[in-house]
Order: sequence, then structure tokens, then C-alpha cells
Amino acid sequence: KTQTSSRKLDHLLICRDHQVEVGNTGFSDVRLVHEALPECDLGAISMKTRFLGADLSAPLFIAAMTGGHPETEEVNRRLARAAERLGLGMGVGSQRAALEHPDLSASFSAVREEAPHAFLCANLGAVQLRDHGAEWAERAVEMIDADALCIHLNFLQEAIQPEGDRDARGCLAAIADLCSGFRTPVIVKETGAGISRETARLLRGAGADAIDIGGFGGTSWAAVEIQRAEDERQKALGERFLDWGIPTVVSLMEVAGDGPVIATGGVRSGIDTAKAIALGADLAGMALPLLPAAMESDKALERAVGAVLSELRSAMFLTGSASIDGLRKSRTYITGTTREMIQNK
Ligand code: FNR
Repeated sequence: KTQTSSRKLDHLLICRDHQVEVGNTGFSDVRLVHEALPECDLGAISMKTRFLGADLSAPLFIAAMTGGHPETEEVNRRLARAAERLGLGMGVGSQRAALEHPDLSASFSAVREEAPHAFLCANLGAVQLRDHGAEWAERAVEMIDADALCIHLNFLQEAIQPEGDRDARGCLAAIADLCSGFRTPVIVKETGAGISRETARLLRGAGADAIDIGGFGGTSWAAVEIQRAEDERQKALGERFLDWGIPTVVSLMEVAGDGPVIATGGVRSGIDTAKAIALGADLAGMALPLLPAAMESDKALERAVGAVLSELRSAMFLTGSASIDGLRKSRTYITGTTREMIQNK
């Protein structure tokens, strides 16, 4: 049982207590064009937006992190209470453990109790979808009465972790199969290595309703697996892949413009959030920066999310954007490696 379940707790503790952020998202190469004459009232700025048919108070998504171990329930409850109070969307972590062992499902179903109105996303790995089919997808959605289902791709982690699923064949077909008959919107997400233009095209062709690019430059699963490594060989493998992945900004530029997109991976402020929206994202997602606060208290979490939202509001003001639609039209300067990578496409 409990291999999957105890791994979930390991991940939380490692991510809270160790340096697991690696690399450069590209956000430091992006500058929003300052508007010296904003001609709007900061206090009247609306951050409201719509995503997959849901009304959200702001384009900030609490990205999938946890559930599946009894001790993760309170963390999920806090995240859900914040989502409900602030009108944000939220994803739960992989529901695999609870699908294998239904007595672990309380740590997930708790989110719907705390957030009866929030936009909540269920979560299942592409490999589990391939192996168990739409029945597991249906159960994952029912467990939290989800508004959308995230199918995660994490083959970098699978390649490094000792218990990894290394046979990736059949996942695209499984996603296509699911999307052809599923009532709930499907979001396909990476988890820190990014999604290329070509892969995005395949996923949209398969019927994915949205893509979360989960780009490089934030939480690194190579770094997490180095912490869990049981021998030198495995540790060395993780170290080789610390710098692997498509930076978030580059992935966003490759994937945006062809359907709903969430930009996750190293989003660390309201300014990063504003940059992501200006570059074509519908929402920006954040996981790691919210974790320590979510493990601490409701108050700490509300302070952390509140800071991001007020930075976003100020960035909107200083680009003269009274609404999210206005922010989408803001111009950016792009420099350095990010510019080179974008030009190389
Ligand atoms: C994650 N992430 C994740 N994603 C997923 O689809 N299923 C999961 O179970 C988890 N679990 C998880 C645990 C923890 C502790 C963290 C920090 C993250 C990945 C997450 O949703 C996101 O894609 C990446 O972490 C990148 O965003 P940040 O952390 O750089 O903001």
C-alpha cells in the first residue's frame, strides 16, 4: 500500500526541507513594458477570468501537490480553503494511491468539503490512465467531484526514480481514448520539464481541452529524486539531469495561441504571473512556493497567496491593464538565452 502513499509524504518533506529548485525559467529574460500613464485605478482593477467554463477571481492556479497519505489531508484542506476563499482554481496531487487503496481517499475528498464552489482538478498519471483506463479517470473525478481532470506526464522522474514506470508506450492513445468520451474537461500537464510545440499539437489532436506546460526552472524532480536516491549510481543519474527540460517561458511561447494553456514551473511572484499572461497563458500555476505555508497554517497560506495577488494587481496597474484581457495585450521585451531559444524554433 504504502509504497505509493509513503512516497507522497517523502515528496512533501523533501520539497519543504531541501533545495529542489534548479535552473532558469526564462522569466528573468522577460520584462513587461512599463506604462508611465496607466490611466486606470489600481483599486478598481479586475483580475477575474474564465477558464474551461469556470469563473475565477484571478488567473492564479494552485498546482497539483498532494494527497494519498493521511498526513497530507490537512495540507490539502488548507489549500482548498484558500482556493474557496480567494476564488482560485486548485489541483490535487496524483490520486493513484487512493485509487489503489480507497481508504486513502479522505485526503483527497476533503478538498471538496472545504471548497464546495472552487474549480478543482483531479489528477492521474498518464501511465495509470493507460493501464487502468477511463474507469480510474472516472473514479478520480468522482472522488473530489472535480471540474476537470489533469493527466500528468513525468517521465523525467520515472527515468530516475528506482520504482519508475519506464515503458511510456501507449500514453497518447490512452489520452485520445479518454478524451473521446469523457464528460469532464481533460488537462494534460507536465511536471517540470516542459511541453514542446510538437507534443502540444499531438495532445490537442488527441482531444486535450487544455495544456499545463509544467516547464523547467522551478521544482526539479531530478533534484527531488537525488534526495531520495539510495545509491551513488542513482544519485549520479539524477545529477546529470538536473539541467534537463524546456524552460517555462520557452515552452509557453511554443504552446500558447492554440487553445487554453496554464503556465506552471517556477512561477514565483505576481510579476511572473503577469508575464505569463502577457505571453499567452490563460492561467499561471504555482506549487512549491505555496507548500511551506500550506504545511504551516491557513494564515501563512493566505499571506503567501495574498502577496502574489497584490503583486499581480500592481503589475497590471503599471502596464495600464484594468482587466486580464488588457494584460493579455501588454507588450514584453525578451532578451538573452530565452530570446535565442525562441528564435531557434
Ligand atoms: C508536485 N507536482 C505534482 N504534479 C502532478 O501532476 N501530480 C502530483 O502528484 C504532483 N505532486 C507534487 C508534489 C510536490 C510537493 C510539488 C512541489 C509538486 C508538480 C506540480 O504540480 C508542478 O507542475 C511543478 O511542481 C512545477 O511548479 P513549481 O513547483 O515550480 O511552482
